[in-house]
Amino acid sequence: MRALVTGASQGIGRATALRLARDGAEVALHFLQHGEAARAVHEEIQKAGRDSFVLRGDLRDLSAIPRMAKEVRDHWDSLDVLVHNGGSYPRQSFEQTTDEDFLEMLRVHAVSPASLTRELLPLLRQSSSGRIIFVSSILAFDGSRRGAPYAAAKAAQLGLARSLARELAPTITVNVVAPGAVDTAVLAGDTPEQKSERLRQIPLRRLGSPQEVAAVIAFLASAEANYVTGATLPVNGGLRME
Ligand SMILES: NC(=O)c1ccc[n+]([C@@H]2O[C@H](COP(=O)([O-])OP(=O)(O)OC[C@H]3O[C@@H](n4cnc5c(N)ncnc54)[C@H](OP(=O)(O)O)[C@@H]3O)[C@@H](O)[C@H]2O)c1
Repeated sequence: MRALVTGASQGIGRATALRLARDGAEVALHFLQHGEAARAVHEEIQKAGRDSFVLRGDLRDLSAIPRMAKEVRDHWDSLDVLVHNGGSYPRQSFEQTTDEDFLEMLRVHAVSPASLTRELLPLLRQSSSGRIIFVSSILAFDGSRRGAPYAAAKAAQLGLARSLARELAPTITVNVVAPGAVDTAVLAGDTPEQKSERLRQIPLRRLGSPQEVAAVIAFLASAEANYVTGATLPVNGGLRME
């Protein structure tokens, strides 16, 4: 199995890359700023006997996408799993936002993933079980009080994922993982009050770990999920019940 994970230098992407490698995958590790961290993941995977390489690219910049795809094609002639995970969650009140803030979040979470998917489709079509997995968010459904551009972009991403699930069937499955609050750098800016308020709302009374999200992604990437497409799997400790 060959997998590309965007945003694999830390957090959920890092845990996903390590988990997929543990499950037997060769993994392409995408990063933006944290090259050293990405290379440390690369070394860990290689030590475990799996092939791996790193590639850099800014998902805010659509012109970076063809080059990223070329780097993947230069290494591999097929791709089994594409995990759209990379991205940020800037917080500001709606009144402070600009149109560019919205366009930037849309590029990161929806347009660049669409572009990267289009570029890599020929490789995914070489796979006998192509998988595309989007890392969405509970906020795609519930909105965000200080993150309207992010929530809007995650909702757009969901529309993209479901459209691809229809259009790329039956050869490629497309699914979504929707985490709640996961213990990564994204939440590090929380004040102690925000943290305790967050925990109070979660029935399981704790943040999720990146590994717990990675486990669900690994399920969707596995043969166990052969008949699952267009699905959104919540990983949120009960914070939102469907
Ligand atoms: N943590 C949560 O509570 C939570 C909840 C719901 C959804 N999510 C989603 O889960 C995904 C991963 O987040 P995380 O919590 O693991 O965050 P994280 O630890 O901050 O990791 C984010 C990853 O995305 C990369 N990245 C950020 N902005 C990028 C950009 N403009 N272009 C390319 N790569 C970029 C980062 O690369 P560098 O570090 O190399 O710059 C990093 O590898 C995101 O899509 C996020 O929206 C997270």
